[in-house]
Amino acid sequence: EAFDVVVVGSCMTDLVSQAPRLPRAGETIHGHKFFIGFGGKGANQCIQAARLGVKAAMVCKVGKDFFGDNYIQNFKDNGVHTDFVGQTSDAATGAASITVNDAGENAIVIVAGANMLLGGEELQKALPAISHAKVLVCQLEISPQMSLQALRMARNNRVKTIFNPAPAIPDLDPDFYKVSDVFCCNESEAELLTGSSVTNVEEAHRAGQELLKRGCGSVIITLGPQGSVVLKAQESTSKHMPVSAVTAVDTTGAGDSFIGALAFYMANYPTMPLEEMARRANQVAAVSVQVVGTQTSYPFRHNLPAELF
Ligand code: RIB
Ligand code: NA
Repeated sequence: EAFDVVVVGSCMTDLVSQAPRLPRAGETIHGHKFFIGFGGKGANQCIQAARLGVKAAMVCKVGKDFFGDNYIQNFKDNGVHTDFVGQTSDAATGAASITVNDAGENAIVIVAGANMLLGGEELQKALPAISHAKVLVCQLEISPQMSLQALRMARNNRVKTIFNPAPAIPDLDPDFYKVSDVFCCNESEAELLTGSSVTNVEEAHRAGQELLKRGCGSVIITLGPQGSVVLKAQESTSKHMPVSAVTAVDTTGAGDSFIGALAFYMANYPTMPLEEMARRANQVAAVSVQVVGTQTSYPFRHNLPAELF
């Protein structure tokens, strides 16, 4: 069975509190709403790609618990293939405590749990799916060595790779750059990886050049309301793709919506220029920030304007 998009990554149950602002250390504040949702960067990206219409498979591990059972059902409800979704009784399903303030910004603590137990054996089992995919997507909420191994497996089989170094780690293995066709991160991740500030388009161009030098095929730095910056190894120009202004109520998972959409475009429109894919993915993500929640806010193909397809 051949898939358009295979994601090797995380699942988290999102425990979300909406509050006027983010609490300070030692402080208790009143929030106004609490809800539980499906999250985790890997699964978010996979679900967004599936909702746009690709055949998607997820390679991940959840706990043998209520949250894990629910998560598997969530994949099925979204048409995501679950043969490579493992369940373990040695750890709980990953969880994310999320606070969202009135400006739509968030602060997140993740406890990766079962995600960290996804191992080489499971990757081997998924090799037929990985090696026949059009696009493989990885992040950093599972063991980094597993992400790297999955990217290598894809590369060895000429499968296009998207790597999203999120959440960013300062000591990222330099091989990650070499196995990434598209290295896609946000401004704070770019800052951490390059050591220089990334707050505007100008600085993103410079950080992008630095990341590109490390060996990836192309770099995309997402800048929230400022759109994104796209750099390719074969071209010396760096392109800024702006996005139209929207009113954000919850930006949680917007970056994942962007990556999921990017995977969809790479799989379905392989000859489209990367900057055009980034422009369209940005419009998909812009829809998600206008609705509360993570996956609950991700649009389906039928919710989006026809010009995006
Ligand atoms: O990128 C957003 C995601 O980060 C949330 O869904 C949360 O689970 C954390 O992994
Ligand atoms: Na949202």
